[in-house]
Amino acid sequence: MTTKHFNPRAKHHFAGRTCSIAGVGSYVPERILTNADLEKLVDTSDEWITTRTGIKERRIAAAGELTSDLATKAALRAMEMAGVTAEQIDLIIVASITPDMPFPNTACLVQQKIGARRIPSFDIEAACSGFIYALEVGQQFIQSHTYETVLVIGAEKLSAITNWKDRNTCVLFGDGAGAAVLRHRAAAGGLLTTVLGADGAKAELLSMPAGGSACPATAESVAQGLHFLRMDGKETFKNAVQAMCSAAKEALRRCQIDIKQIKCIIPHQANRRIIDAVGERLEATPEQLFVNLHKYGNTSAASVAIALDEAVREGRVQHGDLILIVAFGAGLTWGAAVIEW
Ligand code: ACO
Repeated sequence: MTTKHFNPRAKHHFAGRTCSIAGVGSYVPERILTNADLEKLVDTSDEWITTRTGIKERRIAAAGELTSDLATKAALRAMEMAGVTAEQIDLIIVASITPDMPFPNTACLVQQKIGARRIPSFDIEAACSGFIYALEVGQQFIQSHTYETVLVIGAEKLSAITNWKDRNTCVLFGDGAGAAVLRHRAAAGGLLTTVLGADGAKAELLSMPAGGSACPATAESVAQGLHFLRMDGKETFKNAVQAMCSAAKEALRRCQIDIKQIKCIIPHQANRRIIDAVGERLEATPEQLFVNLHKYGNTSAASVAIALDEAVREGRVQHGDLILIVAFGAGLTWGAAVIEW
């Protein structure tokens, strides 16, 4: 199926060239933390976690394994699929809420680890929507002919900001990274549209209060657990379903594509019930929804990037198929993208 004539950017918004995903890759740490393991840490059960979230296990990075290491491994796999060398990369964008450190940015560290040239490298932070935000930013440089090859990565070591004594959150998250190499390819439609949004009025639903300039690290901030991720689960759940549905619908509307034409929907992997509710409201079939949440939990900015890589490598999408990616996260932020593979 070719959808080039749907491309709203080519038609209405700009005169630039199209941007394709030339390769994807992902990496998750070796260590598996199962629900049974968590039963030994907090007052929870495999039954509660499975029925409330759909998560069975998650990956946890080793002590010396950094977000930039996970990002580097995912990037090298994406570069291999795309057939590009480090020398050919013109720009690196890393999306993460768990950078190695506040500065230097993780993209600079990845630049050095993959052996790229002294190319521009920067991070963006849009929590679980980060990869879609990064895709949108990256594609602008391709479309405008500024760069030929852009490396976009979503990478997280959420285990580093997880309160392992808080059963409300510690069962939900995991570590991992996913990457995509963006290029112009004349024979592919590529990114047909991207919808992004945010609502700062609901910033308090999901946050890590300390560690920034508002609350620098002190003995008290550490004692109060302010350096851990906090979440109002119920409110986040409601907002996630609503925002993901409206972003997905807007992306489809802009491309004049019916949900039935989408081969694979890749939703942010936060909660099976959120994914099912979004699928139902979009009138998608269960077969269209890609789910790997049971293996990795919520890996925030890495989530849809890892899922996209797995969907491609499992043969769930073929050349010319339409993919809908949709995510939601702290900020609040959300995003959706329609891609012709
Ligand atoms: N084990 C056992 N019981 C638990 C656990 C646990 N791990 N966690 C919470 N509970 C208890 C609660 O204490 C509560 O008990 P109470 O009624 O006695 O107070 C009870 O279970 C019910 O809790 P709820 O909050 O009502 O459970 P809910 O059905 O809402 O599920 C969950 C909670 C899984 C967190 C859900 O709300 C959710 O997935 N929210 C969205 C998360 C999300 O989408 N995040 C995306 C962004 S993440 C980012 O940007 C970094």
